[in-house]
Amino acid sequence: MNDWALGIQINWQARPVVRELERISWQPDQLGAALTVAAGTLTIEDELGHALFTTAWPQDSAATTAGPAAASPNAWTDFTGLALPSDRRLTATVTLTTTDGQTYRDRAPFFTAADFSAAQWVTGAPDGDAEVLLSAAVTATKPVASVTLYASARGLYELYAGATKVSADLLTPGWTSYDHTIQYQAYDLTALFGAAPHQLLSVRLAPGWYRGRLTWDRKRMYGDRTAFIAHGVIRYVDGSVARFDTAEDWLTAPGPIRASDLYDGEQVDLSHAQAAFLKTGDRAGWRAATVLELAKTVLTPQQDAPCQVTQRLAPVSATTDAAGRVVLDFGQNLVGRVRVDLARLLGGQPVTLTLHHSEVLDALGTPYFGNLRTAAQTVTIHNATAAAGTYAAHFSFQGFRYVEVVADRPLAIDPAAFVAEVIHTPMTRTGTFTCDDPLLNRLYANILWGQRGNFVDVPTDCPQRDERLGWTGDTQVFISTGLYNYDGYAFYRKWLQDLSHDQLPDGGVPAVIPDVVSRLAPETSSSAAWGDAAVICPWTLYQFYGDLRILREQYASMKAWVAFNSAAGKTPYSGNPGFHYGDWLALDVDGSCFGATPHDYIACCFHRYTAELLRRTALLLGETADAAAYAALVAGCDDFFAATYLKDDDLSVATQTAQVLALKMMGLTPAQRAAIAARLNQLVVNNNTHLNTGFVGTPYLLEVLTANGYAATAVGLLMQKTFPSWLYAVTKGATTIWEHWDGLRLDGTMWADSMNSFNHYAFGAVGNWIYRYVLGIDQAPTSAGFEDVVIAPLIKASKRRHVSGSYQSVRGNIAVAWANQDGRVQIRVHVPAETSGTLILQDAVAGSYVGPGTYEPEATRYRIPLHGGSTLTASYRLV
Ligand code: BGC
Repeated sequence: MNDWALGIQINWQARPVVRELERISWQPDQLGAALTVAAGTLTIEDELGHALFTTAWPQDSAATTAGPAAASPNAWTDFTGLALPSDRRLTATVTLTTTDGQTYRDRAPFFTAADFSAAQWVTGAPDGDAEVLLSAAVTATKPVASVTLYASARGLYELYAGATKVSADLLTPGWTSYDHTIQYQAYDLTALFGAAPHQLLSVRLAPGWYRGRLTWDRKRMYGDRTAFIAHGVIRYVDGSVARFDTAEDWLTAPGPIRASDLYDGEQVDLSHAQAAFLKTGDRAGWRAATVLELAKTVLTPQQDAPCQVTQRLAPVSATTDAAGRVVLDFGQNLVGRVRVDLARLLGGQPVTLTLHHSEVLDALGTPYFGNLRTAAQTVTIHNATAAAGTYAAHFSFQGFRYVEVVADRPLAIDPAAFVAEVIHTPMTRTGTFTCDDPLLNRLYANILWGQRGNFVDVPTDCPQRDERLGWTGDTQVFISTGLYNYDGYAFYRKWLQDLSHDQLPDGGVPAVIPDVVSRLAPETSSSAAWGDAAVICPWTLYQFYGDLRILREQYASMKAWVAFNSAAGKTPYSGNPGFHYGDWLALDVDGSCFGATPHDYIACCFHRYTAELLRRTALLLGETADAAAYAALVAGCDDFFAATYLKDDDLSVATQTAQVLALKMMGLTPAQRAAIAARLNQLVVNNNTHLNTGFVGTPYLLEVLTANGYAATAVGLLMQKTFPSWLYAVTKGATTIWEHWDGLRLDGTMWADSMNSFNHYAFGAVGNWIYRYVLGIDQAPTSAGFEDVVIAPLIKASKRRHVSGSYQSVRGNIAVAWANQDGRVQIRVHVPAETSGTLILQDAVAGSYVGPGTYEPEATRYRIPLHGGSTLTASYRLV
């Protein structure tokens, strides 16, 4: 028996709190690509090692109602919702036996749901935007087997035992549609209570998303009072159990963070009466906490892991600007906070230090703050001395590459006293890509950084200005790229649950989820391509993971959105005629952000597209009557579109985006398809191989060119270095994806302050095309969860000399490496067990490849079957 890290996930999470068991999965390639699993067992044990549940396969793999519903011996076991007892800390053990007779084992502890029935919401005295401290002493009276604390807040909380923060989690409980759900976390305090039976548990509580600023001009969107709730379970070695809960016996005091806001930053006073409380535990002068009668029904186990620090970066340079202020450059536009080593920087005399965060420098080389709009992004540490150790903001995050450091008295700023901590939802990397072109590699890195910066518990548009909201359109355009880059099932599933909760009574979809806008600005809801996230996002999750649950969960929401569009239009087929963001930020019209493509046109295309995805969903879910109705809707949309926008084989709308949407979304005859694709190609070529598309056209532009015979034009756009293009920003030194194609103009000026994010992932949606066509990792149109892999890199057209990369699918790792030396290609591909697949060698000289497969002369390509669990190497010549 070998103990081996198998990457176990429970319900798609590494550290879940489980009410019902849905899936236990693992990564078979952790054993090495060459090994195949022959058999396995899965056991769930309680705190005292008693088995609650065991299954083995292949023999037990039949479905039962409470047991495993389906098993993929190499990657997961599904359950049809196995309800687990509350207040428990269980362990899942996965044992795999490989075909060579070796056995490997891994164990994953997890918590079950909490019983909050005896717990009360508690808070301190109202104190503006300052933090509130709460605490209680807890004593274990006998030797402990396990101690678990469940906690949540209206606001943001950090939990301490003595001076120790009990976990690395940040910004807990995360952001959800708080009127419907507030997540709670679970912490294992066994070791702490094992070491010392008497513990002082303390909480720092701050406004955060709950009552801090959100959107352009609002705060207190969910409530006026922050509050905390906790429930503890001590399980003694003798089998007895003690519980403790938040109640009026908790004590409270105001804390040293005098003002805290996600947008504005933090003001802490290190001379405050409670500044040393966590170290001293001295609660002299504290008062009894106030109990608030607030709903507990909203409490739900966390659906995704809370944010954490995932990387630390030292400054790469420090300069002094014209005003004599020190500016630190961390070399990367990032999202997080700066930790200051006060012990290194200061002596015993108090100093007030202020950190202003900025993404870019202006033409004069000074930090540019204009694009932050009203978000202060400023951390001020009052009365700092060396004795305070290090300090970093607790309840705020900033988008920045540069930090201007200001002290209230002369101070030598030692850059080594500062470190940037990168904060986001912790995600497992699933995709890799590298090639021989440094600019393309940088673009790829920028896409990854854009995702990291905007996956701060919810998928946001941007992380720096007074917005940072879950814009539905941005989420929708990026989701495929996001899922190639990182494992995002739990992240997007959580957000989609919020989308369902916040969907409007008529089926419309608010512009941002969690919805904090529709009540203030109802006219912004239900834009085409934004509201369509309700259908496109669950469908894309299904494609990547092959799991029907997400479609089942979202089915009502998906249907409601399509029904809304059918009901809102002049006809059921024309699409919603209401407000739209159009082809947002397209360059084909001067002086407007909405682009030149008519809104009705976009609405019609997206209506047809989501109706078609819903038809396929209905078929997969066995909803055959629905499927037939949606088939009729799709046909009606095609007829309406042809009658309204097609003359002969040409579209009446002449923008690049109009051609793109028709090719991607509409049912066209071969002649129409050929004519529209030729026109799109011509529009791009006539524009000197430049795009002018916005949020709506850009994500599909390269895909439809490639699929319709214009791969060379697609590659030309990808590799274009002059404005507007993806690589333009890279040549200007971008380290993230910009909101605008010209956020920073050639002449050094900026796009207007009002909307100029330098960390906006939307145009990074091109990552999807890079994975699928440059690296070449894709799946067959009817495949889901990469069950039927297609590897078809554009080796000749991409003009790259070498490319390699991988995608860690739910079934295991898919890897590709290819090199092209003067037309002689070497390619190596690996597909995991329990997949089938096809390798397509394009532009191949007949007879230049020797091996299994067939040559298709009319397409000059080889089609080679791939066998699950195998690695294949091929060489051939390009025509
Ligand atoms: C956001 C976008 C969003 C848009 C709606 C902007 O302020 O930053 O990314 O999709 O509004 O058009």
